[in-house]
Amino acid sequence: MVDEQRVRADTPGVGTGAVFLDSAGSSLPPRVVTETVIGHLRREAEIGGYRAANERLDDLAGVKEAIATLLNTTPDTIALSDSATRSWSDFFYAVPLRPGDRILISGADYASNAIAALQRARATGARVEQIPDDDTGRLDLEALAAMMDDRVRLVSLLHVPTNGGLVNPVAEAARIARAAGALVVLDACQSAGQLPLDVAELGVDALSATGRKWLRGPRGTGFLYLRPELAASMEPARLDLHSAAWTGPDEYRMASDASRFEFWEHDVAARLGLGAAVRYLLDLGPDQVYAAIAERADHLRGALGELPGVAVRDRGIEHSGIVSFTAAGATPVEVRDRLRDKDITVTVSHASSTLLDMSARGLDSVVRASPHCFVGRTELDRFVAAVAAL
Ligand SMILES: Cc1ncc(COP(=O)(O)O)c(C=O)c1O
Repeated sequence: MVDEQRVRADTPGVGTGAVFLDSAGSSLPPRVVTETVIGHLRREAEIGGYRAANERLDDLAGVKEAIATLLNTTPDTIALSDSATRSWSDFFYAVPLRPGDRILISGADYASNAIAALQRARATGARVEQIPDDDTGRLDLEALAAMMDDRVRLVSLLHVPTNGGLVNPVAEAARIARAAGALVVLDACQSAGQLPLDVAELGVDALSATGRKWLRGPRGTGFLYLRPELAASMEPARLDLHSAAWTGPDEYRMASDASRFEFWEHDVAARLGLGAAVRYLLDLGPDQVYAAIAERADHLRGALGELPGVAVRDRGIEHSGIVSFTAAGATPVEVRDRLRDKDITVTVSHASSTLLDMSARGLDSVVRASPHCFVGRTELDRFVAAVAAL
């Protein structure tokens, strides 16, 4: 079991009477993250950014080491970035595409990924196609297998959608796609920090994630994992003097590992903060944290499901820490705002973020409550009572 008392004591944002249920948006960081970021900014103000970064070279290397431990891989397969979208698209724009190539996306795919896929399809003559969902709302594995042929260049898998508690069978889907010769990219933005992510077991070619959500890192952080062969061979769409070396008037040599997908300039303080966040999670015990999140989300799902007029909108068989719902007589935005007036933080997920899934279900928006392990039972109950009172 996660040490709830310790987690709460380590989180300045809890214990104030407020209820925080937006870790799927941007979570509350533990104190060590905020102090790491602020401490480094102070140091930059004292001695300048370059010297300050040089003082922290070991800690900066440790950021990738911590992420690699979490994903069961090695640091040379990790490229740090400023968001999940940056990481996803850095990989995606490096995949060569020709007319007639097929890009498969899932019903729960995130808008930014789908938009990038459509843009590249327009530019290259490739086609974007949707893998159907099964009756439970999960990616349909049989349909995926039937769609595979040698024109499928890339399969985009979505682990946990932004708009609800679904968990997709991504390891099985990756096996099907890779067996047919396609590249597989996994959007793990909403699963990193709340579900186990073992890249060896998942078998994906690339994985993208963000720092500020379930990992409880600073905003403006993210990372890309690349299968080792790709980290050493794939050519990014853009290079600079960090991702490559200028070796002669007409020549350059790319970095030998995933850092070829990074640029030299970055927010050092935020990056150190991300390292602190991942180390904090590793120290707490990821499995305990994941179990605590699941337990809180299950409790909410059950309690909300019993309220008259409230419809829980989560699909799938296995569920994540995201609980989505609608309430009769109030729009999701009204629900969010009325809860905010009681110092309860939830967010609204709009159809524009997950167009295919929300259109298929005839939904414009849903309320999203996403409890992390620092949320106590009393707070969950205060939230449920507030929804009931609406
Ligand atoms: C499933 C999913 N993918 C990608 C993203 C984009 O993450 P970022 O804003 O870090 O680029 C989000 C953000 O909410 C998301 O929920």
